[in-house]
Formats: sequence, C-alpha cells, structure tokens
Amino acid sequence: GRVVVVYGGTSGEREVSLKSGAAVLEALKRQGVDALGFDPREGGLAGLEALAPSAVFIALHGRGGEDGTLQGALELLGIPYTGSGVLASALGMDKERTKQVWRAQGLPTPESITLTADADWNGVIAALDLPMIVKPVHEGSTLGISIVRSREELEAAYREAARFDARVMAERFVQGEEYTVALLGDEVLPAIRVEVPGGFYDYEAKYLSDTTQYHLPCGLDAEAEGALARLCRQAFSAMGGQGWGRIDVMRDGAGMFWLIEVNTVPGMTDHSLVPQAAAHAGIDFDALVLRILNTAVS
Ligand code: DAL
Ligand code: MG
Repeated sequence: GRVVVVYGGTSGEREVSLKSGAAVLEALKRQGVDALGFDPREGGLAGLEALAPSAVFIALHGRGGEDGTLQGALELLGIPYTGSGVLASALGMDKERTKQVWRAQGLPTPESITLTADADWNGVIAALDLPMIVKPVHEGSTLGISIVRSREELEAAYREAARFDARVMAERFVQGEEYTVALLGDEVLPAIRVEVPGGFYDYEAKYLSDTTQYHLPCGLDAEAEGALARLCRQAFSAMGGQGWGRIDVMRDGAGMFWLIEVNTVPGMTDHSLVPQAAAHAGIDFDALVLRILNTAVS
C-alpha cells in the first residue's frame, strides 16, 4: 500500500510542519516505502481520500491536524494513521484541559487561570505571582506566549495571546531547568535539557537560532532521570496518548518536576527534539520514522 504523509496545513505552525513532513517523506522514500506527501490546504479531505492511502503519517502541527479533527475523519474513512487517537489529540491541543486531567490524577502541573479581556488582573497576579506565563490555550511552537513580569505586561501579554486564540491562560512560572521527554511506543527516550543563553525557548530559539543548547545526556542522575521518565509515561497515559509524543517539563530549584504540556505530533525538523533523543538512544532518523509509521493502526 501507499503511505501518505500529511503536512503543511493551515495552522500557525504550517512552516514547521512543512519541514517535519519533508524530512519524514524523504526518510520513507530512502527506505523504499511507497510514499507521497499531501498538503490539506490543497485539496482538503476529498483530495486525501482520492490518494487511497493504506496509512497516513500525520506530520501536521497545531489545529486542523494535531487536534483530533483529522484523526476523526480518518477513523470514519477507515484509514490507519500514526500517533494519538481523537480524544488524546483534542485534549493535547488544549493546554488547559490537559492540565485539568493531570491534576485530577494527582500529577504535578503549575497552577493556571483562564484569562478574559475583563479579568481581575490584580487577582491573577495575587494568585500566580510574578513572573508568570501567558499563553494561547490551543497553540504550538511557543506562538503567542509571553513571560510577564509586571501588571502592565500582563494585559499586553493577554492581548498578544488573544491574537492567536479565543482562549488564553496564565500559568505560574516555574523558575528552573527545562526538560523534554519523548515517548515512542512503549519506550521512553532519553530526556533532553534545553538551555537558551539569555533566556526563553521561544519560536526563534526553537527553529532559527544556532545558540540554543540541547544537553543530551541531560545531566540528571539516574534516579532523577528515572523519576522524570516515569512521570512522563504516566502523564501520557493519563491523557490517553498513543504511538508517540513529547512532554515538556520544568524542574524547579528544589528538584521537583512540573508537567507543562504534551505534543501529540512533535516536530521532526532538523532542529527538533525527538530526532535528537532517538539518535542518542541509537535510533537514527530513518529508523525513527519507520517506528512511528508502525504505530499506525486502524
Ligand atoms: N509543536 C512543535 C512542532 C513541537 O512540539 O515540536
Ligand atoms: Mg507544544
């Protein structure tokens, strides 16, 4: 059968997805898989169906691809696809509800509050302290996210995030180290510590900068890395994740881990984290792509 790599799309992460999908498609072709690429912006669902895929490799990031909508359509069409199903995809795209599920299962995630245009800004600051993080609820790749250090910045950050999404949240800022952990099938890949000289792992630091540092091995002792791996495995299973994914975590000064978010279609660009973690575990990019493809079930 023929594998169709779906990439591009119409979300704010289109450019990232174009890179992820191109890398995946090349890897499949290099390994002799009958594969072609498809951008839903050109042809929509009918165009995809017309290609009669035997399986779909979902390399779309953000809304309209990572959020359960495409997954639901493929379920109805009876076409196997990679990664999480409808529920976990939709949940993972909603940062606030993901946190609610984690909290309900006793998993640690920083406090958060939904922001609206008429929010009680002083009350938000009293609840979360400064600095805090303000972010769109359904966005990826750090688009629309700010670190807020004053009352004035809070309202500006709200307006910036609201350009990206109808729902905006504020989250307590965890001062400390940033880790990310990839899950591949039943395996937890080695954690990566991300360090951005001068500060914030934003869109620029993720995809454009050459100064972002990826520490691999991450520097944690075996016990702490084991605890982090177990936490991420629990967090992924709590939200019903399947196949593969990546969880972003902060570690505070006391050594406590805090779950930030889950990505059900993590980036696969040449700057991306899952390919780096896989390589460290002895899984090269081509093998990684095949492993992910093999998670596709109908
Ligand atoms: N949302 C981006 C693609 C990531 O998590 O890698
Ligand atoms: Mg994300």
